[in-house]
Amino acid sequence: DLGQVGEELDLPVYAVGGFVRDLLLGIENCDIDVTIEGDGILFATTFAAKFGCRVKSHVKFGTAVIVFPDGTKIDVASTRLEYYASPGALPTVERSSLKMDLYRRDFTINTLAIRLNSPDFGVLIDYFGAQRDLQERVLRVLHNLSFVEDPTRVFRAIRFEQRLDFHIAKHTENLIKNAVKMNFLDKLGGKRLLSELVHILTENDPLRAVDRLASLGLLRFIHPDLFLTKPVRRNMEEAVRIVSWFELLFLDRRYEKWAVYFLTLTGTLSNDEFLATCNRLAVNEHYREKLFESRRQAGTMLEIMQRKVARGIPVLRSDIYFWLKALPVELLLFMMASTTSADVKKFISLYITQLQNVRTMLNGKELQRLGVPAGPRIRELLDVLLTARLNNEVLSREDEER
Ligand code: CTP
Repeated sequence: DLGQVGEELDLPVYAVGGFVRDLLLGIENCDIDVTIEGDGILFATTFAAKFGCRVKSHVKFGTAVIVFPDGTKIDVASTRLEYYASPGALPTVERSSLKMDLYRRDFTINTLAIRLNSPDFGVLIDYFGAQRDLQERVLRVLHNLSFVEDPTRVFRAIRFEQRLDFHIAKHTENLIKNAVKMNFLDKLGGKRLLSELVHILTENDPLRAVDRLASLGLLRFIHPDLFLTKPVRRNMEEAVRIVSWFELLFLDRRYEKWAVYFLTLTGTLSNDEFLATCNRLAVNEHYREKLFESRRQAGTMLEIMQRKVARGIPVLRSDIYFWLKALPVELLLFMMASTTSADVKKFISLYITQLQNVRTMLNGKELQRLGVPAGPRIRELLDVLLTARLNNEVLSREDEER
Protein backbone atom coordinates (compact mmCIF):
# COMPACT_ATOMS: atom_id res chain seq x y z
CA ASP A 1 0.00 0.00 0.00
CA LEU A 2 2.88 2.33 0.77
CA GLY A 3 4.32 1.59 -2.63
CA GLN A 4 0.97 2.16 -4.34
CA VAL A 5 0.60 5.66 -2.86
CA GLY A 6 4.19 6.36 -3.89
CA GLU A 7 3.34 5.38 -7.44
CA GLU A 8 0.26 7.60 -7.51
CA LEU A 9 2.32 10.56 -6.38
CA ASP A 10 5.27 9.52 -8.47
CA LEU A 11 7.54 9.54 -5.42
CA PRO A 12 10.16 6.88 -4.72
CA VAL A 13 9.37 5.17 -1.38
CA TYR A 14 11.88 3.19 0.70
CA ALA A 15 11.71 1.18 3.88
CA VAL A 16 14.85 2.14 5.79
CA GLY A 17 16.84 1.77 8.98
CA GLY A 18 16.15 -0.57 11.88
CA PHE A 19 13.25 -2.26 10.10
CA VAL A 20 15.40 -3.42 7.19
CA ARG A 21 18.28 -4.32 9.51
CA ASP A 22 16.02 -6.54 11.59
CA LEU A 23 14.39 -8.03 8.50
CA LEU A 24 17.79 -9.23 7.33
CA LEU A 25 18.66 -10.49 10.79
CA GLY A 26 15.35 -12.33 11.05
CA ILE A 27 14.26 -10.29 14.08
CA GLU A 28 10.67 -9.13 14.41
CA ASN A 29 10.31 -5.35 14.24
CA CYS A 30 6.96 -3.64 13.89
CA ASP A 31 8.36 -0.09 13.71
CA ILE A 32 8.42 0.69 10.02
CA ASP A 33 10.46 3.70 8.96
CA VAL A 34 10.03 4.95 5.43
CA THR A 35 11.91 7.61 3.57
CA ILE A 36 10.38 9.40 0.62
CA GLU A 37 12.61 10.83 -2.04
CA GLY A 38 10.56 14.02 -2.17
CA ASP A 39 7.87 15.47 0.06
CA GLY A 40 7.24 12.99 2.86
CA ILE A 41 4.47 15.02 4.44
CA LEU A 42 2.47 15.09 1.21
CA PHE A 43 2.99 11.35 1.02
CA ALA A 44 1.84 10.78 4.61
CA THR A 45 -1.30 12.90 4.32
CA THR A 46 -2.27 11.26 1.03
CA PHE A 47 -1.72 7.80 2.48
CA ALA A 48 -3.67 8.63 5.65
CA ALA A 49 -6.65 10.07 3.75
CA LYS A 50 -6.82 6.94 1.63
CA PHE A 51 -6.54 4.40 4.44
CA GLY A 52 -8.36 6.19 7.27
CA CYS A 53 -5.28 6.92 9.40
CA ARG A 54 -4.28 9.97 11.37
CA VAL A 55 -1.11 11.97 10.63
CA LYS A 56 1.14 14.00 12.86
CA SER A 57 3.60 16.03 10.87
CA HIS A 58 6.64 18.14 11.72
CA VAL A 59 6.97 20.50 8.83
CA LYS A 60 10.31 21.83 9.99
CA PHE A 61 11.87 18.38 9.80
CA GLY A 62 9.89 17.11 6.85
CA THR A 63 8.76 14.15 8.93
CA ALA A 64 5.37 12.67 9.75
CA VAL A 65 3.93 9.78 11.68
CA ILE A 66 1.06 7.80 10.19
CA VAL A 67 -1.09 6.34 12.95
CA PHE A 68 -3.44 3.48 12.07
CA PRO A 69 -6.74 3.01 13.91
CA ASP A 70 -5.20 0.06 15.83
CA GLY A 71 -2.30 2.22 17.02
CA THR A 72 0.35 0.89 14.61
CA LYS A 73 2.67 3.65 13.49
CA ILE A 74 4.79 4.33 10.45
CA ASP A 75 7.45 7.01 10.60
CA VAL A 76 7.88 8.94 7.39
CA ALA A 77 10.92 11.04 6.56
CA SER A 78 11.68 13.14 3.50
CA THR A 79 14.85 13.71 1.61
CA ARG A 80 13.31 17.06 0.79
CA LEU A 81 13.06 19.53 3.65
CA GLU A 82 10.98 22.66 3.38
CA TYR A 83 11.04 25.17 6.20
CA TYR A 84 10.55 28.83 6.96
CA ALA A 85 13.78 30.42 8.15
CA SER A 86 11.87 33.39 9.58
CA PRO A 87 8.17 34.19 9.92
CA GLY A 88 6.75 35.43 6.64
CA ALA A 89 9.81 34.44 4.65
CA LEU A 90 9.58 32.12 1.70
CA PRO A 91 10.17 28.50 2.57
CA THR A 92 13.69 27.23 2.31
CA VAL A 93 13.81 24.00 0.44
CA GLU A 94 16.64 21.57 0.80
CA ARG A 95 16.89 18.68 -1.51
CA SER A 96 19.09 15.75 -0.92
CA SER A 97 19.28 12.22 -2.13
CA LEU A 98 18.49 8.97 -0.41
CA LYS A 99 22.21 8.34 -0.21
CA MET A 100 22.81 11.60 1.67
CA ASP A 101 19.91 10.79 3.97
CA LEU A 102 21.35 7.39 4.80
CA TYR A 103 24.84 8.81 5.21
CA ARG A 104 23.58 10.91 8.14
CA ARG A 105 22.75 7.82 10.15
CA ASP A 106 24.58 6.29 13.08
CA PHE A 107 25.91 2.90 11.96
CA THR A 108 26.33 1.15 8.65
CA ILE A 109 23.88 -1.58 9.65
CA ASN A 110 21.15 1.08 9.87
CA THR A 111 21.72 2.40 6.35
CA LEU A 112 19.96 -0.27 4.34
CA ALA A 113 16.91 0.63 2.28
CA ILE A 114 14.38 -1.40 0.32
CA ARG A 115 12.53 0.21 -2.55
CA LEU A 116 8.77 -0.21 -2.07
CA ASN A 117 7.51 0.85 -5.49
CA SER A 118 8.33 0.21 -9.13
CA PRO A 119 10.39 0.28 -11.21
CA ASP A 120 12.80 -1.20 -8.67
CA PHE A 121 10.30 -2.74 -6.29
CA GLY A 122 11.95 -4.91 -3.64
CA VAL A 123 15.52 -3.93 -4.50
CA LEU A 124 17.84 -3.78 -1.53
CA ILE A 125 20.01 -0.67 -1.51
CA ASP A 126 23.31 -0.88 0.32
CA TYR A 127 25.58 2.12 -0.18
CA PHE A 128 27.84 1.65 2.81
CA GLY A 129 28.67 -2.03 3.16
CA ALA A 130 25.85 -2.76 5.60
CA GLN A 131 25.31 -6.33 4.44
CA ARG A 132 28.95 -7.18 5.03
CA ASP A 133 28.78 -5.66 8.52
CA LEU A 134 25.58 -7.52 9.29
CA GLN A 135 27.28 -10.72 8.24
CA GLU A 136 30.36 -10.00 10.31
CA ARG A 137 28.18 -8.71 13.16
CA VAL A 138 30.04 -5.43 13.36
CA LEU A 139 28.93 -1.95 14.39
CA ARG A 140 30.71 0.69 12.39
CA VAL A 141 30.12 4.43 12.09
CA LEU A 142 30.02 6.04 8.66
CA HIS A 143 32.48 8.82 9.33
CA ASN A 144 34.89 10.05 11.98
CA LEU A 145 32.69 12.86 13.29
CA SER A 146 29.68 10.67 14.00
CA PHE A 147 30.07 10.72 17.80
CA VAL A 148 30.95 14.41 17.83
CA GLU A 149 27.78 15.20 15.91
CA ASP A 150 25.67 13.11 18.21
CA PRO A 151 27.20 11.73 21.42
CA THR A 152 24.09 9.63 22.17
CA ARG A 153 25.43 7.31 19.49
CA VAL A 154 28.07 6.12 21.92
CA PHE A 155 25.30 4.67 24.05
CA ARG A 156 23.43 3.38 21.04
CA ALA A 157 26.57 1.51 19.95
CA ILE A 158 26.76 -0.19 23.32
CA ARG A 159 23.06 -1.00 23.33
CA PHE A 160 23.11 -2.54 19.83
CA GLU A 161 26.26 -4.46 20.67
CA GLN A 162 24.52 -6.07 23.61
CA ARG A 163 21.12 -6.54 22.04
CA LEU A 164 22.20 -7.90 18.66
CA ASP A 165 25.29 -9.64 20.00
CA PHE A 166 27.47 -7.59 17.65
CA HIS A 167 30.91 -6.09 18.14
CA ILE A 168 31.96 -2.47 17.90
CA ALA A 169 34.60 -2.22 15.16
CA LYS A 170 38.12 -1.31 16.26
CA HIS A 171 38.23 2.09 14.60
CA THR A 172 34.74 2.94 15.86
CA GLU A 173 35.81 1.95 19.36
CA ASN A 174 38.79 4.27 19.06
CA LEU A 175 36.48 7.09 18.04
CA ILE A 176 34.42 6.41 21.17
CA LYS A 177 37.56 6.48 23.30
CA ASN A 178 38.49 9.73 21.71
CA ALA A 179 35.06 11.23 22.38
CA VAL A 180 35.44 10.15 26.00
CA LYS A 181 38.90 11.66 26.27
CA MET A 182 37.73 14.96 24.79
CA ASN A 183 34.75 15.01 27.16
CA PHE A 184 32.24 15.35 24.33
CA LEU A 185 29.74 13.53 26.47
CA ASP A 186 29.62 16.42 28.91
CA LYS A 187 27.74 18.27 26.21
CA LEU A 188 24.98 15.72 26.26
CA GLY A 189 21.82 17.06 27.93
CA GLY A 190 20.52 15.26 31.02
CA LYS A 191 17.27 14.19 29.39
CA ARG A 192 19.00 12.54 26.45
CA LEU A 193 21.56 10.88 28.69
CA LEU A 194 18.80 9.51 30.92
CA SER A 195 16.85 8.31 27.93
CA GLU A 196 19.88 6.38 26.62
CA LEU A 197 20.56 4.93 30.05
CA VAL A 198 16.94 3.84 30.42
CA HIS A 199 17.12 2.19 27.00
CA ILE A 200 20.24 0.29 27.97
CA LEU A 201 18.86 -0.78 31.33
CA THR A 202 15.59 -1.92 29.79
CA GLU A 203 17.28 -4.47 27.54
CA ASN A 204 16.93 -8.08 28.56
CA ASP A 205 20.36 -8.59 30.03
CA PRO A 206 21.99 -5.21 30.50
CA LEU A 207 25.12 -6.52 32.18
CA ARG A 208 27.31 -6.70 29.12
CA ALA A 209 26.32 -3.14 28.22
CA VAL A 210 27.04 -1.92 31.75
CA ASP A 211 30.44 -3.62 31.62
CA ARG A 212 31.09 -1.75 28.38
CA LEU A 213 29.98 1.56 29.89
CA ALA A 214 32.43 0.96 32.71
CA SER A 215 35.38 -0.20 30.63
CA LEU A 216 35.03 2.68 28.18
CA GLY A 217 34.95 5.14 31.09
CA LEU A 218 31.42 6.31 30.39
CA LEU A 219 30.00 6.00 33.88
CA ARG A 220 31.80 9.12 34.96
CA PHE A 221 29.58 11.20 32.69
CA ILE A 222 26.69 10.09 34.87
CA HIS A 223 28.58 10.83 38.09
CA PRO A 224 32.34 11.27 38.60
CA ASP A 225 32.28 8.79 41.50
CA LEU A 226 30.22 6.13 39.79
CA PHE A 227 32.32 2.98 39.37
CA LEU A 228 31.47 -0.60 38.63
CA THR A 229 33.35 -1.99 41.61
CA LYS A 230 33.40 -5.74 42.25
CA PRO A 231 30.60 -5.60 44.85
CA VAL A 232 28.43 -3.36 42.64
CA ARG A 233 28.93 -5.71 39.71
CA ARG A 234 27.99 -8.67 41.88
CA ASN A 235 24.81 -6.85 42.87
CA MET A 236 24.07 -6.10 39.22
CA GLU A 237 24.42 -9.81 38.42
CA GLU A 238 22.08 -10.57 41.28
CA ALA A 239 19.65 -7.90 40.04
CA VAL A 240 19.51 -9.62 36.63
CA ARG A 241 18.66 -12.91 38.34
CA ILE A 242 16.05 -11.29 40.56
CA VAL A 243 14.37 -9.41 37.73
CA SER A 244 13.95 -12.67 35.80
CA TRP A 245 12.63 -14.39 38.92
CA PHE A 246 10.13 -11.55 39.38
CA GLU A 247 9.00 -11.68 35.76
CA LEU A 248 8.38 -15.41 36.05
CA LEU A 249 5.87 -14.72 38.82
CA PHE A 250 3.58 -13.17 36.20
CA LEU A 251 2.18 -10.72 38.73
CA ASP A 252 0.89 -8.71 35.81
CA ARG A 253 2.03 -5.51 37.37
CA ARG A 254 3.72 -2.66 35.55
CA TYR A 255 7.09 -1.71 36.96
CA GLU A 256 10.19 0.11 35.80
CA LYS A 257 12.81 -2.54 35.29
CA TRP A 258 15.46 0.03 34.49
CA ALA A 259 14.95 1.61 37.92
CA VAL A 260 15.94 -1.65 39.66
CA TYR A 261 19.22 -1.65 37.74
CA PHE A 262 19.72 2.08 38.15
CA LEU A 263 19.31 1.84 41.92
CA THR A 264 21.64 -1.14 42.05
CA LEU A 265 24.29 0.56 39.94
CA THR A 266 24.16 3.68 42.11
CA GLY A 267 23.66 1.69 45.30
CA THR A 268 26.95 2.64 46.93
CA LEU A 269 26.72 6.36 46.19
CA SER A 270 26.10 8.63 49.16
CA ASN A 271 22.82 10.52 49.40
CA ASP A 272 24.39 13.67 48.01
CA GLU A 273 26.04 11.79 45.18
CA PHE A 274 22.77 10.10 44.36
CA LEU A 275 20.99 13.47 44.21
CA ALA A 276 23.75 14.89 42.02
CA THR A 277 23.31 11.89 39.69
CA CYS A 278 19.57 12.52 39.45
CA ASN A 279 20.27 16.17 38.68
CA ARG A 280 22.79 15.29 35.99
CA LEU A 281 20.14 13.08 34.42
CA ALA A 282 17.50 15.82 34.70
CA VAL A 283 15.20 13.52 36.64
CA ASN A 284 12.18 15.68 37.45
CA GLU A 285 11.88 16.94 40.99
CA HIS A 286 8.86 14.89 41.95
CA TYR A 287 10.36 11.59 40.77
CA ARG A 288 13.76 12.47 42.23
CA GLU A 289 12.25 13.07 45.68
CA LYS A 290 10.28 9.85 45.44
CA LEU A 291 13.34 7.84 44.42
CA PHE A 292 15.51 9.48 47.03
CA GLU A 293 13.04 8.99 49.88
CA SER A 294 12.33 5.34 49.10
CA ARG A 295 16.03 4.64 48.58
CA ARG A 296 16.69 6.03 52.04
CA GLN A 297 13.85 4.01 53.51
CA ALA A 298 15.05 0.85 51.78
CA GLY A 299 18.46 1.35 53.38
CA THR A 300 16.92 1.69 56.84
CA MET A 301 14.72 -1.38 56.40
CA LEU A 302 17.63 -3.46 55.14
CA GLU A 303 19.62 -2.50 58.21
CA ILE A 304 16.77 -3.40 60.57
CA MET A 305 16.24 -6.78 58.93
CA GLN A 306 19.93 -7.61 58.71
CA ARG A 307 20.43 -6.70 62.36
CA LYS A 308 17.57 -8.94 63.50
CA VAL A 309 18.87 -11.83 61.45
CA ALA A 310 22.42 -11.34 62.72
CA ARG A 311 21.23 -11.40 66.33
CA GLY A 312 18.97 -14.37 65.76
CA ILE A 313 15.84 -12.43 66.78
CA PRO A 314 12.71 -14.15 65.45
CA VAL A 315 10.88 -12.23 62.76
CA LEU A 316 7.11 -12.38 62.35
CA ARG A 317 5.37 -12.33 59.01
CA SER A 318 3.57 -9.19 60.15
CA ASP A 319 6.94 -7.51 60.92
CA ILE A 320 8.02 -8.08 57.35
CA TYR A 321 4.72 -6.76 56.06
CA PHE A 322 4.88 -3.49 57.97
CA TRP A 323 8.55 -2.94 57.18
CA LEU A 324 8.06 -3.29 53.47
CA LYS A 325 4.56 -2.13 52.72
CA ALA A 326 5.49 1.48 51.89
CA LEU A 327 8.14 0.51 49.36
CA PRO A 328 7.55 0.36 45.61
CA VAL A 329 8.39 -2.93 43.94
CA GLU A 330 11.46 -1.47 42.21
CA LEU A 331 12.94 -0.78 45.62
CA LEU A 332 12.06 -4.24 46.92
CA LEU A 333 13.86 -5.87 44.00
CA PHE A 334 16.83 -3.56 44.47
CA MET A 335 16.96 -4.55 48.15
CA MET A 336 16.92 -8.23 47.23
CA ALA A 337 19.80 -7.63 44.83
CA SER A 338 21.89 -5.69 47.29
CA THR A 339 21.56 -7.65 50.52
CA THR A 340 24.07 -10.37 51.23
CA SER A 341 21.77 -12.07 53.71
CA ALA A 342 19.89 -15.05 52.30
CA ASP A 343 17.31 -14.68 55.10
CA VAL A 344 16.57 -11.08 54.27
CA LYS A 345 16.21 -12.06 50.64
CA LYS A 346 13.67 -14.67 51.70
CA PHE A 347 11.74 -12.12 53.74
CA ILE A 348 11.40 -9.82 50.77
CA SER A 349 10.43 -12.60 48.38
CA LEU A 350 7.82 -13.80 50.90
CA TYR A 351 6.41 -10.28 50.99
CA ILE A 352 6.26 -10.05 47.20
CA THR A 353 4.75 -13.47 46.59
CA GLN A 354 2.34 -13.66 49.56
CA LEU A 355 2.21 -11.07 52.29
CA GLN A 356 1.44 -8.03 50.18
CA ASN A 357 -1.83 -9.65 49.12
CA VAL A 358 -3.08 -10.49 52.60
CA ARG A 359 -6.25 -8.58 53.51
CA THR A 360 -8.55 -8.51 56.52
CA MET A 361 -12.06 -9.81 55.96
CA LEU A 362 -13.71 -7.00 57.89
CA ASN A 363 -13.40 -3.41 56.75
CA GLY A 364 -13.77 -0.11 58.63
CA LYS A 365 -17.49 0.21 57.94
CA GLU A 366 -18.18 -3.26 59.26
CA LEU A 367 -16.19 -2.54 62.41
CA GLN A 368 -18.39 0.52 62.98
CA ARG A 369 -21.46 -1.64 62.57
CA LEU A 370 -20.03 -3.97 65.23
CA GLY A 371 -19.93 -0.98 67.60
CA VAL A 372 -16.41 0.47 67.22
CA PRO A 373 -16.62 4.28 67.29
CA ALA A 374 -15.41 6.11 64.17
CA GLY A 375 -11.91 7.61 64.48
CA PRO A 376 -8.30 6.46 64.82
CA ARG A 377 -9.42 3.41 66.81
CA ILE A 378 -10.72 1.85 63.58
CA ARG A 379 -7.30 2.09 61.88
CA GLU A 380 -5.62 0.59 64.96
CA LEU A 381 -8.04 -2.29 65.11
CA LEU A 382 -7.69 -3.00 61.41
CA ASP A 383 -3.91 -3.19 61.86
CA VAL A 384 -4.38 -5.57 64.79
CA LEU A 385 -6.65 -7.75 62.66
CA LEU A 386 -4.23 -7.65 59.73
CA THR A 387 -1.33 -8.57 62.01
CA ALA A 388 -3.26 -11.54 63.36
CA ARG A 389 -4.17 -12.66 59.88
CA LEU A 390 -0.61 -12.27 58.57
CA ASN A 391 0.64 -14.43 61.40
CA ASN A 392 -2.09 -17.00 60.75
CA GLU A 393 -3.68 -16.38 64.14
CA VAL A 394 -7.10 -15.77 62.63
CA LEU A 395 -8.34 -17.74 59.70
CA SER A 396 -12.00 -16.83 59.26
CA ARG A 397 -14.41 -13.94 59.46
CA GLU A 398 -15.79 -15.27 62.73
CA ASP A 399 -12.26 -15.22 64.21
CA GLU A 400 -11.96 -11.58 63.23
CA GLU A 401 -15.32 -10.64 64.70
CA ARG A 402 -14.32 -12.16 67.98
N1 CTP B 1 19.61 7.42 14.29
C1 CTP B 1 20.84 8.05 14.21
N2 CTP B 1 21.38 8.66 15.32
C2 CTP B 1 20.71 8.65 16.50
C3 CTP B 1 19.46 8.03 16.58
C4 CTP B 1 18.94 7.41 15.45
O1 CTP B 1 21.45 8.05 13.17
N3 CTP B 1 21.24 9.23 17.56
C5 CTP B 1 19.06 6.75 13.08
C6 CTP B 1 19.42 5.27 13.05
O2 CTP B 1 20.10 4.99 11.88
C7 CTP B 1 18.11 4.53 13.10
C8 CTP B 1 17.04 5.58 12.83
O3 CTP B 1 17.65 6.84 13.06
O4 CTP B 1 18.04 3.48 12.19
C9 CTP B 1 15.81 5.40 13.68
O5 CTP B 1 16.15 5.51 15.06
P1 CTP B 1 15.56 4.52 16.15
O6 CTP B 1 14.13 4.25 15.86
O7 CTP B 1 15.96 5.03 17.46
O8 CTP B 1 16.48 3.25 15.88
P2 CTP B 1 16.22 1.76 15.42
O9 CTP B 1 17.41 1.41 14.61
O10 CTP B 1 14.88 1.56 14.82
O11 CTP B 1 16.39 1.02 16.80
P3 CTP B 1 15.33 0.35 17.74
O12 CTP B 1 15.26 -1.05 17.23
O13 CTP B 1 15.96 0.45 19.09
O14 CTP B 1 14.06 1.13 17.59
